[in-house]
Amino acid sequence: MRAATRTDRGTIPSRRSVEAEGRAVGLPDDDGFYDKIKPRLCSQIGEELREARCVLDLGCGECELGRFLAETYSQEVIGVDLADGSFPDLQELRGGAPTRLRCVKADAGRLDFLAAGAVDAVVMLWALHELAQARTVLVEARRVLRPGGELLIVDFPRGSLAQRLWNEDYFTPQQAFDLLAVTGYADITVRLVERRQVLWAKGIRSASKELAS
Ligand SMILES: C[S@@+](CC[C@H](N)C(=O)[O-])C[C@H]1O[C@@H](n2cnc3c(N)ncnc32)[C@H](O)[C@@H]1O
Repeated sequence: MRAATRTDRGTIPSRRSVEAEGRAVGLPDDDGFYDKIKPRLCSQIGEELREARCVLDLGCGECELGRFLAETYSQEVIGVDLADGSFPDLQELRGGAPTRLRCVKADAGRLDFLAAGAVDAVVMLWALHELAQARTVLVEARRVLRPGGELLIVDFPRGSLAQRLWNEDYFTPQQAFDLLAVTGYADITVRLVERRQVLWAKGIRSASKELAS
């Protein structure tokens, strides 16, 4: 069995070594863990972004988060995903009433349908690790954010239970911090929450910084 996988973000430990480490420190050992905490994370994201009138959800998948934000906070939400196969049926969702959610099939790295400064907040839930061009996406997110707007990234961190379950190329907190810094965000904070199984990273689109290329 391979001991580790090398990637451009460093070396991912093998599933076996993460398993051993996880057991050693008493991590949750339940593949329903992330499903269980998702409603709580959606609420925390809602509270974090409650001041925003328009929220862009990149890598939205089924737009579960977007539906929650639109219904709970009456926010205008634009969900973007490369694939539209999981988008909800908005006619059905409306049930006669207008919904503030819209879903767009697009690459998050190329949001041509949005003007500069068009949104108040950008969120990505479980999506950062899937981006082939994370840096391009964060620069584009910064373009469409208004000055003072917030980017919030919630993802699985390197070495977490997720790694034991799916063993993908997750970011460390330091890598997430560096990514936000190099793409021009200010006031960056990166934390591990939910028993250190979730990465919570945020940055502000400051008015003064030049766009990173
Ligand atoms: C693990 S899913 C998370 C979906 C959703 N945010 C959730 O919480 O259930 C990651 C999503 O990111 C999307 N994705 C990956 N790369 C993308 C890109 N460049 N632009 C837009 N969406 C992308 C995938 O299609 C997938 O639906």
